Amino acid sequence: MNYYERMKEKYNNLKSKEDVIILSIESSCDETSIAVVKNGRQVLSNIIASQIEIHRRFGGVVPEVASRNHILAISNVYRQALSDAGITKEDIDAVAVTYGAGLMGALLVGVNFAKALAYGLDVPLIAVSHVYGHISANFISHPNLEPPFLCLMVSGGHTAILKVTDYNKKEMLGTTIDDAVGEAFDKVARVLSLPYPGGPEIEKLAKSGENTYHFTVSNALKHTLNFSFSGIKTEVVNLVHNANQKGEELNRADIACSFQECVTDELSQKAITACKSQNIKKLVVAGGVGANSRLKEKLSSFCNENDIEFYAPVLKYCTDNGAMIGSCAYYMMKDGLGLANLDLTARPNVDL
Ligand code: KG4
Ligand code: ZN
Repeated sequence: MNYYERMKEKYNNLKSKEDVIILSIESSCDETSIAVVKNGRQVLSNIIASQIEIHRRFGGVVPEVASRNHILAISNVYRQALSDAGITKEDIDAVAVTYGAGLMGALLVGVNFAKALAYGLDVPLIAVSHVYGHISANFISHPNLEPPFLCLMVSGGHTAILKVTDYNKKEMLGTTIDDAVGEAFDKVARVLSLPYPGGPEIEKLAKSGENTYHFTVSNALKHTLNFSFSGIKTEVVNLVHNANQKGEELNRADIACSFQECVTDELSQKAITACKSQNIKKLVVAGGVGANSRLKEKLSSFCNENDIEFYAPVLKYCTDNGAMIGSCAYYMMKDGLGLANLDLTARPNVDL
């Protein structure tokens, strides 16, 4: 029997195993992360080697530099993940890996490491979507959270409203027609001369500013659950460039605050509208921008007013990490989904 045939049987047997230990690998962007997750909710270890300092000097992630640094980091991250979890490699029931979306070269490092490990240990390999991983960050943060719920997905690469009817059943209700919100945060931060990654820097600077600009997003998508952030991004970029050309001083904190107010209004209003129209009483935020306190403040207060439960991942699971991939993989395994063969490859884009 070849590897894949053997794994089909092993994978199926995991469904009824009492304790399932998944080692999960994430390398889609600039974090090399490996976690050990037990039964989808218990994080035994979650090691993250961040490359932020390396990319900061370039003002953003340089894909080739990211791939090379993943290669340098991954073996040590793996050893540390096992040792922190207090397990040996023989305890691993399955290996999970982010296969997309993300940077091709960066993803390939994780995918190839995962394939070699799964084959060497003779355990199943589970291919996980990074975006769905972000949703699962909530399962490790909130032990009692279960679908159905509505998810506001706000990362560097995706912005969407999803109806999560079951662990592996999602329906997209709205998405961005241009930039993802994290991308807009990063570009606005760059024009304000803030370091990469821009989101947390804008949040910090916004605290000392006021909403003096009253930016708005285009009215064209008002009656839909879709988003557009390229207009507001361009407005801020033009504002700063024009002022620079004229040698005028701008209040950067006011710009940061006004921008943050505008996008967090748009995101929170549409998320609540979606909950109401779908009659869903649970709202979950997911992805890096979910770390933004102003966004969480608005979502939480709207949810309160409308009798909706609100969930956000704990801060360390908002941005990229291996643990969320392990949680997602566990529930895929329970439904017999995601088993990959050794020809698994990386994908820069995945469907929501
Ligand atoms: O989910 P993530 O780690 O990576 C992707 O899957 O894309 O998200 C990264 C994005 C970046 O654009 C970063 O600027 C943004 O999340 N971000 C934030 C905050 N922390 C991270 N945006 C706004 N406020 C924050 N506190
Ligand atoms: Zn991410």
